[in-house]
Amino acid sequence: MPTRDAPLGVFDSGLGGLTVVRALREALPAEDIVYLGDTARVPYGTRGPATVIKYASGCAKQLVHRGVKAVVIACNTVSAVAPERLRVDLDLPILEAIGPGAKAAVDASKTGKIGVLATAGTIASGAYARAIAALDTRAEVIGQPAPLLVPLAEEGWTDGDVPRLAARKYLAPLAKANVDVVVLGCTHYPILRHAIEIEAKDLIGPDVTIVDSAHAIAQSVRSFLEQRDMHRVRDVRGGIELLVTDAPKSFEEVASRFLGAAVPHVELIDL
Ligand code: DGL
Repeated sequence: MPTRDAPLGVFDSGLGGLTVVRALREALPAEDIVYLGDTARVPYGTRGPATVIKYASGCAKQLVHRGVKAVVIACNTVSAVAPERLRVDLDLPILEAIGPGAKAAVDASKTGKIGVLATAGTIASGAYARAIAALDTRAEVIGQPAPLLVPLAEEGWTDGDVPRLAARKYLAPLAKANVDVVVLGCTHYPILRHAIEIEAKDLIGPDVTIVDSAHAIAQSVRSFLEQRDMHRVRDVRGGIELLVTDAPKSFEEVASRFLGAAVPHVELIDL
């Protein structure tokens, strides 16, 4: 079994999970992190559950092979369909994204009308609706697939007319349903947060709350590790190792901009 000094493994289909890495580095600065972006197969959100489970198993096994102490699924699409399977197949903690996002949304909503922007796969799975209903039976969930936001984030096209127009289209049904909270239910979406927030305030109203599930996920990982004495205690900042399955150069460019720091060499791997 890996010790508490082993790194945390984190994966997503591409860049999106870096939003979780950024939040994890704030919440758990001493932890080393191995991040895997499956850039050869992004997007996951348009695929069926069996394919997503197959891809997710490959990613998680690679992280286990690298000696991680726990796997953080920094992807809502995978979290919607694969955690149980990964828990059965891999003998170490698997932490997912939807439970923490649902809890943050329920805590933030005053009216109980919660909008969820997510991939087509996540919305079709009904996972957010179930997770929210388990916390508050009166809450009403309005799910809206927002698939175009993923390639925009991967391209690093995060501001200006195109992302704003796309965000506006996807937010319109949520505004119509009078939600007071919009959950960014895909880890790519916080990369476009600025554009989404401007349009949400304009369409829904200035008091709308945007829930960035990256922070909620990081807090849940922190409590999980602390409760089990699995967190790393030291004064030194943890390092990051970045792995991708395709196009390491472009990943490095967007990643360094996004993480707000020069990123280490990005290693190209095959799963
Ligand atoms: N970032 C992922 C999510 O949270 C997947 C996006 C995709 O690959 O479609 O759902």
